Amino acid sequence: MIQPARRIQDLPPYLFAEVDRRIAEKRAAGFDVISLGIGDPDLPSPAHVVEAAQDAVAEARHHRYPDYYGLPELRAAIARWYEDRFGVQLDPTTEVVSLIGSKEGIAHLPVAYVDPGDLVLVPDPGYPVYSIGTLLANGVPYLMPLKAENAFLPDLDAIPADVAQRARLIWVNYPNNPAGAVDGLDFFERVVDFGRRHDILVCHDNAYSDVAYDGYKAPSLLEVPGAKDVAVEFLSPSKTYNMTGWRVGMMVGNPTAVEALGRVKTNVDSGIFEALQIAAMAALDGDPAWIADRTPASRPAGTPL
Ligand SMILES: Cc1ncc(COP(=O)(O)O)c(C=O)c1O
Repeated sequence: MIQPARRIQDLPPYLFAEVDRRIAEKRAAGFDVISLGIGDPDLPSPAHVVEAAQDAVAEARHHRYPDYYGLPELRAAIARWYEDRFGVQLDPTTEVVSLIGSKEGIAHLPVAYVDPGDLVLVPDPGYPVYSIGTLLANGVPYLMPLKAENAFLPDLDAIPADVAQRARLIWVNYPNNPAGAVDGLDFFERVVDFGRRHDILVCHDNAYSDVAYDGYKAPSLLEVPGAKDVAVEFLSPSKTYNMTGWRVGMMVGNPTAVEALGRVKTNVDSGIFEALQIAAMAALDGDPAWIADRTPASRPAGTPL
């Protein structure tokens, strides 16, 4: 029997697939399960996004292979969104690449940066794809514990010098999944400095940028002056616009990293169906008030979106 490669045999089952399996098992046994597992909004995507997609699907010009790095119009919309939301300026042609959901880029970035045996600094607990992408590139995840006494921030001073020397990437994620911790620019400044001192690409997963309460506005790591020299940020309409199923995401920031990930992607996938890119543009260009209105606490029960 021909066996798959060891890297696949050694790969743990994807955590959320396993959670889904156990939920299905419990449901089949008659339990009423409330899932606190994957972050998958159970509210619909915005109506104007659905309409933009419907119109675009009907147009034959969108039926062909899409632009590898993302439609220039989508990349421009992402840059506009960053400027409006974070006051961060991005060059849409060199500092933005669209992804088939941010998960895809998180999984593929190590292909561009990690050689066999290289270390990747990964928060523990954390989104499983940081480690899985590392393993797929034959790298080695080095776990950074997130502890309550450190406000669920990794202790950068506790990372041994030889580990920092062998590391190529460091993953951070605030607002944090699963701890729910948030942090201002203070930690981001420290991690950018850490990346600069040790030649490590800082990767900020900002998937939950707009899932916050009580008026809290999460920052972008790219607000740190000079961050683009050593950092990239992943963003996703999935949670912000209830669009998990549409599979659109983006990585922005350091142009070398954008080019490197783009080069991997041009060889692996052929971009996002253009109608979905147009839908993502409708989300990003939509009235930002939609985001506040979407929060169930500010919407009387039963109010249609
Ligand atoms: C922390 C974190 N990052 C990234 C993602 C991926 O989101 P998507 O691929 O839908 O953009 C998720 C999804 O659950 C997540 O929890």
